[in-house]
Amino acid sequence: MPLLARTRGRSRALGTRGTLMALCHAAGLPVASACSGRGACGRCLVTVLAGGDGLSRPGSRERRVLARLGAEEDQRLACQCRLEDPAGTVEITTGYW
Ligand code: FES
Repeated sequence: MPLLARTRGRSRALGTRGTLMALCHAAGLPVASACSGRGACGRCLVTVLAGGDGLSRPGSRERRVLARLGAEEDQRLACQCRLEDPAGTVEITTGYW
């Protein structure tokens, strides 16, 4: 099952390969960014609604930015994480979709 994006109360299927940001962009969904996906700005923060175990673990860069932002445990940087288990289902959303 691919990545799902919850937009306006509906789930929308995205792809399975690449960063969450790349998958969103490929589907025409905007993801905020001020660093072109280099893991510096934190603007691409998304909330994981389900299936977070199917995502790659946060690397040191992502952990630093999440800590700086005071992010919740269910929040990740879309430019830094990927689907690890293409058979799983991960659902994400943002405050602006
Ligand atoms: S786009 Fe800047 S941290 Fe992800």
